[in-house]
Amino acid sequence: MPTVTINGTSVAVTQGTLLLKAVQNAGIHIPTLCHHDALAPYGACRLCMVLITAPRRALVASCTYPVEEDLAVETHAPEAVQARRLALEALLARCPGSDAIRKMAEKEGVTASRFSLLSHEHSDELCVLCGLCVRICRDLIGAAAIAFVGRGSERKVGTPFDLHTEACIGCETCVDICLMDVLAPNPEEGMPPVVAYPDECWFCGSCVDMCPQEEQGAGLKER
Ligand code: SF4
Ligand code: SF4
Ligand code: FES
Repeated sequence: MPTVTINGTSVAVTQGTLLLKAVQNAGIHIPTLCHHDALAPYGACRLCMVLITAPRRALVASCTYPVEEDLAVETHAPEAVQARRLALEALLARCPGSDAIRKMAEKEGVTASRFSLLSHEHSDELCVLCGLCVRICRDLIGAAAIAFVGRGSERKVGTPFDLHTEACIGCETCVDICLMDVLAPNPEEGMPPVVAYPDECWFCGSCVDMCPQEEQGAGLKER
């Protein structure tokens, strides 16, 4: 069993344990967003950064870092706290209206962001791109019905072409795992797909009536 020194205290951990888990088991809180025990390590949000001081000195994402013999870590070294605050500032800039992010940031001492990543039209953005929904749908449910689409500030979770997909089995696991309340169950009873609805869609149905392609119109209607 490797021995790891966490904030000056030595603890024995099982080989292969992730550093985040070792830290949590030691009763130390560090913020996380994209990590889930049921999913493979991802390392996207950078909220769980810690400073390892042996066998080398480096800032690492603890959720992707497997423990090794004689590892030493300082979870609240100034560099680590600074890295986590920087990640929270980036998230605040992306989702300025998110209560969940604001609360998380305040807990870490961040009340404002120095960044401005999005234009005003995105001020209602809630998705932090943690990928939990996409990964659980693909890796645990086995449906792969949703994915990240678009680039940069336009990146979002959706189905191919934002349309109804036969791949979705309507299990709503993606809805349950989303901490940001971005995903919602399909409002139409009896319709299985549960996807990230674009905020601008009112489900008025006009597109279905106007669509010259009968097949595509039917597809839109199903959604
Ligand atoms: S509801 Fe559909 S998109 Fe969501 S996890 Fe289940 S299969 Fe995937
Ligand atoms: S929709 Fe929710 S779970 Fe999916 S990436 Fe965005 S914040 Fe994460
Ligand atoms: S929880 Fe570690 S990078 Fe997101």
